[in-house]
Amino acid sequence: MSSIKTTSLNKKDAKRDIDYCLKNARTKKCMDEDYFTRNPHIYLNTSENVKEAVQSSVGEGSKVLTVASSGDYCLESIFRGADEVVNFDINQHQYYMTCLKYWAVLNLSYDEYCSCFRNFRRDDLLFMSDGLLRKAVSGFEREIAYPFWDRLIQERKREQDKVMEFLQSPSYKILTGYLGMHYPVGLIDYAINALDEYPEFRGGNALRIFESPEAKEDTYGYLMTEENFNTLKERLRKAKVSFQTSDIRRIKNRLYGEEDFNAIFLSNIPFYIPSKDFVSAVDDQIAPLLAPGGEISYYCQNMSADWMIARQQDPNYHVPITNFGRDYMMALNQEGVERCIASYAKLTENYDVELEEIPAYGGTPGILAPTDVKVLVRRK
Ligand SMILES: C[S@@+](CC[C@H](N)C(=O)[O-])C[C@H]1O[C@@H](n2cnc3c(N)ncnc32)[C@H](O)[C@@H]1O
Repeated sequence: MSSIKTTSLNKKDAKRDIDYCLKNARTKKCMDEDYFTRNPHIYLNTSENVKEAVQSSVGEGSKVLTVASSGDYCLESIFRGADEVVNFDINQHQYYMTCLKYWAVLNLSYDEYCSCFRNFRRDDLLFMSDGLLRKAVSGFEREIAYPFWDRLIQERKREQDKVMEFLQSPSYKILTGYLGMHYPVGLIDYAINALDEYPEFRGGNALRIFESPEAKEDTYGYLMTEENFNTLKERLRKAKVSFQTSDIRRIKNRLYGEEDFNAIFLSNIPFYIPSKDFVSAVDDQIAPLLAPGGEISYYCQNMSADWMIARQQDPNYHVPITNFGRDYMMALNQEGVERCIASYAKLTENYDVELEEIPAYGGTPGILAPTDVKVLVRRK
């Protein structure tokens, strides 16, 4: 069966990496420059409107370079007709996620896929259930990423069984009697994943590995209908897909001889690295990889074009905390928005830069703005 090629990792790494993730899943780190390197919290779903971000940039036969993250940019690009996608990510663990999603599209039905990855607030444990995960990975036993998922599925099942036991226990009955309500199982699973402290489940590590932005079906082209999903399935069988562990600041040498990408997606990385680094990465590392007429795009959550333009002209600008939910703000580097804007302003010196307002992804709690911004960068 087709799969995702990589020269960055091997099966021994996969065994070490799942140990590392299980051991560190409970650590909550503040975001800083090193945050994403070997981050044990893996992005399960994109936090961007991937349909809008991809659809106008990718067509039949496109060759795409993208930050791997959850694998959703890769899948969306193939759905839109790309026949080759090179993924890269500073966090090698995103390789495993990209493989899992890819295998799951091939092995699961549309309903199974949605139950497994999308409906994580469901009233049952079908979200990431061991049955669906086992089905998703079957046939890929010889792949590098397999030992990672094999172990994670075992651990997750053990922890989910403990959740079920707890739901039958007298302490749960006392709790629900006291509160006068029953919590849905899916919500408890999610709460354990999201909460830092949960005394009954101190050992619950596998349940905490995933960063789980809520997947909104209308922000994924490939999940909008069963027909779209089946189109992706077909296309995936023929597409050429690979992965490189790499920082955006050092990607070019890894792709020597491949200076022919039609579309390059950088997700929201300018939120996370100093803007001078981002601008020089675009100049030295990314723009040289474009095919003639190709374009680079990055994504800014919750910023309207007007809002951005006004702010980049304002020397006294400070991040308006009220624009973000407290939780999001705690997680995001305080200067993230300013960096995103600064990179936009600097890039206009050497590139044609276009801002496109797109409907917001809408899955991040506390962000209510109706639009996000896709920034398109082309050589002048
Ligand atoms: C910035 S995160 C946030 C999630 C993202 N908004 C999405 O839709 O998936 C996206 C990905 O960028 C990766 N990343 C962050 N900084 C990077 C860098 N300097 N070079 C390469 N990848 C990076 C992270 O490891 C993560 O997988």
